Amino acid sequence: MTMKGKILFAGLMIMTCACTPKLGTSTANRLVKAMTVEEKVRTVVGTFTDVATPPPVAPGVHNRADYPGSGENTAVSRNQVPGAAGDGYAVPRLGIPAIVYADGPAGLRIDPRREGDENTYFCTAFPTGTLLASAWDPAIVEEVGAAIGDEVRRYGVDVLLAPGMNLQRNPLTGRNFEYYSEDPLVAGITAASYIKGVQSQGVGTSIKHFAANNQELYRNGIDEKISNRALRELYLRGFELAIKESAPWTVMSSYNKINGVYASENEWLLNDVLREEWGYEGFVMSDWFGADDPVAQMKAGNDLLMPGTPNQIDELMEAVETGVLPMEVLDRNVKRILEVMAQTPRGKGLSYANDPDLEAHAVISRRIATEGMVLLRNNGALPLKAGRKVALFGNYAYDTQPGGSGSGYVNRAYKVTLDKGLEAAGFTLVPELADAYRSHIAFEKSQMPEEYFWVVPTASEMVVTDAAIRSAAAQTPLAVVTLGRMAGEGGDRTATEGDYFLDKQEWQLLERVRRSFKEVVVVLNTGAPVELTGVDKLSDAILLAWLPGQEAGHAITDILSGAVNPSGKLPVSLAVKYEDIPSSKNFGVSEGEINVVRYQEDLMVGYRYFTTAGVRTLYPFGFGLSYTSFEYADFHAEGADTLSVTVRNSGAVPGREVVQIYVEKPALSQDRPVRELCAFAKTPVLQPGESVEVKIPLRRPSIDPLAQWTDDGWAVASGTYRFHAASSAEDIKLSLTLER
Ligand code: BGC
Repeated sequence: MTMKGKILFAGLMIMTCACTPKLGTSTANRLVKAMTVEEKVRTVVGTFTDVATPPPVAPGVHNRADYPGSGENTAVSRNQVPGAAGDGYAVPRLGIPAIVYADGPAGLRIDPRREGDENTYFCTAFPTGTLLASAWDPAIVEEVGAAIGDEVRRYGVDVLLAPGMNLQRNPLTGRNFEYYSEDPLVAGITAASYIKGVQSQGVGTSIKHFAANNQELYRNGIDEKISNRALRELYLRGFELAIKESAPWTVMSSYNKINGVYASENEWLLNDVLREEWGYEGFVMSDWFGADDPVAQMKAGNDLLMPGTPNQIDELMEAVETGVLPMEVLDRNVKRILEVMAQTPRGKGLSYANDPDLEAHAVISRRIATEGMVLLRNNGALPLKAGRKVALFGNYAYDTQPGGSGSGYVNRAYKVTLDKGLEAAGFTLVPELADAYRSHIAFEKSQMPEEYFWVVPTASEMVVTDAAIRSAAAQTPLAVVTLGRMAGEGGDRTATEGDYFLDKQEWQLLERVRRSFKEVVVVLNTGAPVELTGVDKLSDAILLAWLPGQEAGHAITDILSGAVNPSGKLPVSLAVKYEDIPSSKNFGVSEGEINVVRYQEDLMVGYRYFTTAGVRTLYPFGFGLSYTSFEYADFHAEGADTLSVTVRNSGAVPGREVVQIYVEKPALSQDRPVRELCAFAKTPVLQPGESVEVKIPLRRPSIDPLAQWTDDGWAVASGTYRFHAASSAEDIKLSLTLER
C-alpha cells in the first residue's frame, strides 16, 4: 500500500470506529439502530438449523421414550461448545458474538468427548433439586451454584439453563427431581440462592419454566386452569421471590398454556406481571420449540425463540414486512437480548481454558448431598458402627442413580454407587450377594442401549432366593435394602406398582428380609416420593437419599455411618395414600376434558391441605430426624418484624436443626389454608448442650409472606396473627400471637 493509501485506510478505520457501534462499548439502542432487519430477526431466533420445522405439538404423547424428537430435539451447537443446548446469532461487524446456552440444574450438560480430541469435558453431577431444597440452607445452595457457575464459565458457556423451580404440585410430576418443593417460599429461596451462586461467576442463568409447568403429560399443549389466587400465592410466588432477590439474567417461559394462553405468548404473564409488576430487566427465552406463533411470542415479550428454526425466521421477516410485527416490538426484544449479551463472557471477549477443578467440586457435591438427605425413621439402628458386615440388597445399591434423565442429566466422569461407598468406608458386604447383584446388573445392561442423557436404562430388580437371604443372614444381622426410581423429562410417573407404589417383588423382599435380619435399614434413591405406608413396619430405619449426585455412595455412607449427622427436612409432604393428595383428582388431565387440567384444589397443595383438612400424613412437610435432639425455648417477637427462638442441642452428638415459622393469618377470603410457612432458618452445627438464639426476619426484600391475594391485589389483613416455631408442619414447639 502506498503512503497515500495507508493514510486513507487509517482515516477510514477511524471513521468506522467512530460510526460502527460495538457490543460492550456502545449502548444497545445504538446497536439496534445499526442492525439490518434480518440481523434483528436472527438475533431473536436461536441458530438451530437441523430441522426445518419444530417437532409437532403432541398432545397425546406422555411416554418418555416416545417423546417427539427424543434425542433429536436438542440443538447441538456445532461450532462452539459441543453438547450445549443452543446458540445465539452472531453479528461480527457489530462485535456481537453467538452466545452459548447449556443445561442444566444439577450441573452443566455438555458432551464429555469431542471428535479428534483426546481431552475430556466431564462436568460434576451435583445433587438434584429436591435434595438441595431439603437442605433448607441458602448458603449451601449458593455454594453449589457457584461451583456449577465456575464449570459453566471455564467450559465456555454463557448462560446456564437453570434453575428449574416449578412447584411440586403432585408427586408424580416427571421433573420433580429438578424442582424444589410444594411450598413457594422454600422453592423461591432455594432458587434465589442457586442463581446468586451461579451468577457470582460472571455467567447467566435462566430460571425456568415460567410458569406452572407442573406436569410433563401433554406439556406442549396442556391448558392449566388456575385461579388468580392460586397463581399468585403458589405458582408465581416462588418465581417472584427469586427473580426480585437474585435478578436472573434470563427467564425461560414454559411450554404449557395458562388459562387458555401459552406462557410464551402470554402478555399478561411476561409483560404485566414479570416486567411491570416485578421490575424484571433481563430477557425471556422460550423453552425448546415451545408454542407455535412466533409473532405472538414476540409481542408478548418472549424475546428469544429457542433453539430457533428457519421457519421462525421466515415468519418473522414476513411479519415485519407486512407490518404485522411492529418494528418497535422487534427492537425492544433485540435490545433486551443485547443488554444481557454484553455482560456474558463471550460478550466481553473473555477466553476460557476448559479447566474446572473437578476434584474440588466432587468434594462439594459429596458434602452437600449429606446436607439434604432426610432421615425418615430410626429406631436406633442408625448410625452404623464402622467395620460392620452388611447384607446389601436392591439393584439401586449397586447401580445407584445420581440424577434423573432428560435435559437435567449431567455427563459426569463417574458415579459412586452405594456398595462402593460402604466398602470405601470400611464396611464389608456379604460377598455372594454383592457378586450376584453385580453380575445381574452387568448382564442386563450389556443387553441395553448405552446410557445417554435422554434415556438412562436400569436393570430389572434381581430376584433374591430364600436360600440367598438365609445364607446372608447367617453372616450378619444387618441388612440394607435400597429401593429406587428413575424419572425424567418428557413423561410423568404413574400411580402404579413399580413406580409410585412398591411392587410385589419389593414388598416380598422387604418382608423376607425383615423376617431374617435383626436390623433392617431402607435407603431410597429417588427424585420424588414413593408411597411408603407399611415400609415403617418392615424396617428399623428409612433414609430418603433422593438423587444425590455423582458422590452418591460416599454421601449415603456418610449418613449411615454417622460421619455426618442428617439435617435434611422434607420439602414435600409424604401422604399416607395417593388419593389423600388433593391434586390426585386433577393431575395430568381433568376427567372428561381434552388437554385441560383444572387446579381445583386451589390453595390446598401439600401441607396447606393436610393441616387444614386434618388429614394425617405419613411424614409431614418439614420433617426429618437427626441423631441428636433439639429443644426450643423463649419464642418471642423483637419489634414487629423479627421473631426470635432459642434452640438447644439436647442430645449427644453435634447437629443442625431447621427452625420453621408457620403463620395463621386472619383470612381475607374463603377456603384458605390454616397454616403457612412464612420463614425458616437453619442453625449452625450445635455441639451437645450448646444453644443458639435464632433471629428470624418476617419480611423479605421481595415479598411479604404475610400478604394474601385478594380481588384487589395483595393485602395484609389487620388483626391477630398466630406464629408457630415448629420442627415440621405438624410438630409445633412454641407459639405466640401478634396484632397487626
Ligand atoms: C427443557 C428445558 C431445557 C431445554 C434445552 C427442553 O426440552 O424443557 O428445561 O433447558 O430443553 O435442553
